[in-house]
Amino acid sequence: MMAHGQTDSSGQSSMKAGPKTRREFLKNAAAAAAASGLATALPLGCGGPKTAPANPATAPTLSAVNGPRSLRAHAAQHGMLVGCAVVPEKLDGEPDYARTVAEQASILVPENALKWGPLRPTPDQYDFRKADDVVAFALSHNQKVRGHNLCWHEALPSWFAGTVTKDNAAQFLTQHILTVAGRYAGKLHSWDVVNEAVDIKSGRPDGLRDSPWLELAGPGYIELAFRTARQADATALLTYNDYAIELDTPDQIDKRGQVMMLVRRLKARGVPIDAVGVQSHLGAGDAPGAGLIHFVRELRAMGLQVFITELDVNDRKLPESVPDRDTIVAKTYRDYLTMMLAEPNVNVALTWGITDRYTWLNGKKNARPDGKPERPLPFDYDYNPTPAFFAERDAIDSRRRAAQPGSDPYTPFTPGQSGPRGRYE
Ligand code: XIL
Repeated sequence: MMAHGQTDSSGQSSMKAGPKTRREFLKNAAAAAAASGLATALPLGCGGPKTAPANPATAPTLSAVNGPRSLRAHAAQHGMLVGCAVVPEKLDGEPDYARTVAEQASILVPENALKWGPLRPTPDQYDFRKADDVVAFALSHNQKVRGHNLCWHEALPSWFAGTVTKDNAAQFLTQHILTVAGRYAGKLHSWDVVNEAVDIKSGRPDGLRDSPWLELAGPGYIELAFRTARQADATALLTYNDYAIELDTPDQIDKRGQVMMLVRRLKARGVPIDAVGVQSHLGAGDAPGAGLIHFVRELRAMGLQVFITELDVNDRKLPESVPDRDTIVAKTYRDYLTMMLAEPNVNVALTWGITDRYTWLNGKKNARPDGKPERPLPFDYDYNPTPAFFAERDAIDSRRRAAQPGSDPYTPFTPGQSGPRGRYE
């Protein structure tokens, strides 16, 4: 029997059985990255068991996008972090997934594992296993982690409605943040402390969303969440995260304005906030422009960072042709990232997933009308890089900033060293 991480005759990693313990999980995580080095000369397209490799004449090889050609290596050279949202079960159970995440990302965020619902099966229990797995994976691959999120109107547990009341909501929120942010204190790059609290349609003068938190704890809940997060974790960058603030359409101009007003109110009251997350769920062909850049610069003048937190580009309005869709999606990536990454306070960019195989955009709410799978991410269903990958990498390269010593977790592999970073070709 082969050890984890060895390759069999087809060149595939032998890491198939799921780990039973946390130690095995960590071992597998390291093995998956090591396997990526061993597989650099092979064609891509290795999602699931395979007997015949893809056509080597047409398939790009891993060496074209891995090691020094990866997103994370290019990002490190240009003084920034790049990464993606991750599904903990896939890091554990799918070697191609783990390999791609290990190779490409210098920052991860659990897609769902830290939300209230998944984290809190009952009012008194916390289930940290999946979030812990992401943190462990990141640690063994020299990656940073964002926390998402501490306070949101969605993904609340089913017990919430019957248990959280006007009398105890502030207490629930405080306890939750102390427990969750406290558990990872000192270990996270940043926290989305409050997610999507602004909503124009709610019709309030202060722009706040009519949400359970607003209703139960009042408008002060945002300030409470940030202050409590700082109390629980002195070092994570505390972030307000929102969507539909990228474009210069009337609705998005309004919403972006209300987000700015919220941030100004918080700053004026001395609330600890370090960054604004611009989710960046774009549609193919969307062209964010001057309004967003003005917003980014105003935040910079206030001393705030801007993180691109959830980038993906849905192609649901485009016809079926895959090459046409890919071209327009890639152009959207290129134009958006080139524009944003030129700003000195934009130094972190994450996509909402790494492979089209697991994009949330194939869920009911966002699916294409023709039922075809969407292609919104830098790697396709079979882990081949898409044109969006190369657009993203080019945009990173368009930055004229050099690596800042000590500011980036990426360390080039030293020949002869065995470790989770694997080896270059
Ligand atoms: C989404 C996840 O991707 C889905 O798996 C889940 O079913 C719903 O939430 N904005 C956010 C993210 O801040 O948390 C959302 O994630 C996508 C939109």
